[in-house]
Amino acid sequence: MDNQTLPPKPDWETDFPIERVEAIHVSRREFAKFLCLVSGGLCAGSGWLAVKDKLFPAAEVQGEHLVCKTSEVPLGGTWAFTLPETKLPYILIHLETDEWRAFEQKCTHLSCAVFYQPKEGKIECPCHNGWFDARTGAVLQGPPPRPLPQLKVEVRGDEVYVSAMPKAHAGEKS
Ligand code: FES
Repeated sequence: MDNQTLPPKPDWETDFPIERVEAIHVSRREFAKFLCLVSGGLCAGSGWLAVKDKLFPAAEVQGEHLVCKTSEVPLGGTWAFTLPETKLPYILIHLETDEWRAFEQKCTHLSCAVFYQPKEGKIECPCHNGWFDARTGAVLQGPPPRPLPQLKVEVRGDEVYVSAMPKAHAGEKS
């Protein structure tokens, strides 16, 4: 056996080693690189979420929209709809008290779809057990940080219309 030093490995052999032991070995440097990449990605994602609403404010509901006929939604029933200007999902609720409410159907925590629970008079977000008041949209329980955005509902004859909630009344009952 001679004492000659081996030539350095080519880059490809470092990235794709032939020996199994080398292939499954993760060096401290590689692990630190991985952690930096993941942390950087999380920071960038959080930063993007923080500025997104400021850079691209949500479109406002314009004017009044016919949603459905009153006869199409029984007491305790709901009606899902979207509006052309916002493209957001909304839920119209015919409360057992014969009142009407309309909310964005996106949870204010992490945007899961929310569902009306008629017997409880509450709106549930099943993702993290978040609950909202079905009359006001207020948070009752769980991680949602804000009430559900609400639309103004008006019943004229046998037709149900929605429009933007006046700013001063947003978050209150319609
Ligand atoms: S997304 Fe609704 S509680 Fe988390």
